Amino acid sequence: MELKDKIDRNKLPQHVAVIMDGNGRWAKKKGNQRIFGHQNGVKAVRETVEAAAELGIKFLTLYAFSTENWKRPQNEVNALMHLLISTLNTEIKTLQDNNVRLLAIGDLDSLPANVHKQLNNTIELTASNTGLSLVLALSYSGRWELLHAIKNIVQLACEGKITPEQLNDETFYQYMQSSFMPYPELLIRTSGEYRISNFLLWQIAYTELYFTPILWPDFRKEHFFEAILDFQKRERRFGKTSDQLVSEVTPNANNNS
Ligand code: IPE
Ligand code: IPE
Ligand code: MG
Repeated sequence: MELKDKIDRNKLPQHVAVIMDGNGRWAKKKGNQRIFGHQNGVKAVRETVEAAAELGIKFLTLYAFSTENWKRPQNEVNALMHLLISTLNTEIKTLQDNNVRLLAIGDLDSLPANVHKQLNNTIELTASNTGLSLVLALSYSGRWELLHAIKNIVQLACEGKITPEQLNDETFYQYMQSSFMPYPELLIRTSGEYRISNFLLWQIAYTELYFTPILWPDFRKEHFFEAILDFQKRERRFGKTSDQLVSEVTPNANNNS
């Protein structure tokens, strides 16, 4: 039986987020420049998008470039921006073939104009696709997104359009850029690093975390399916006890009037 067939289609996460890490180390191991690792990471992106689409997952968020990544050497930043443009162009076919709609989160205005243009172009071309929503986190950080939301709320408060009483978990999220998607149930990080690196901070409060030593350019569909299977074995308690969860699934026989 193939890994994919072991996955319970009734217990799929709606939203999977991925920290794609390890490109530089992958290239170094092969005696190559870091950019060689980034270039080879494109195949892993394609495989992951296809795997998520095949399963019928609704949202896949890929952390492609953090606000902190601007601090990398200029030649690496430039190479990443060029790679982004060419990939957004060449992968349009993959997106269309798999009915995938592209979206983006992050400080998109800080991207070079030609990246922004290609990004908007691919977003527009795939806008009517109804399958997986692929969300690229670009010039993104969790703190940036939170601050952005808080600034909006403070502005509205100054204008007398919102009061403190109106804010709770749900209403606060509506002010965040990624409020169009549910919180991720599963977060995958490759390359054996055990940290969040300023990814979806608000959203991952109760997300299941999955860490794998695989370096991103080596990540394939099978690795994605393994992560989903691991997720499906977990008990998500959200603060409750295990016994409470069992009684919620199998209601008391005296209680079925
Ligand atoms: C992830 O790989 C890609 C980006 C952060 C853009 P890295 O470039 O961080 O690779 P390592 O972690 O140095 O191996
Ligand atoms: C996180 O990877 C950002 C992306 C994958 C885009 P980094 O390689 O930048 O993270 P740190 O610096 O090792 O935490
Ligand atoms: Mg890294």
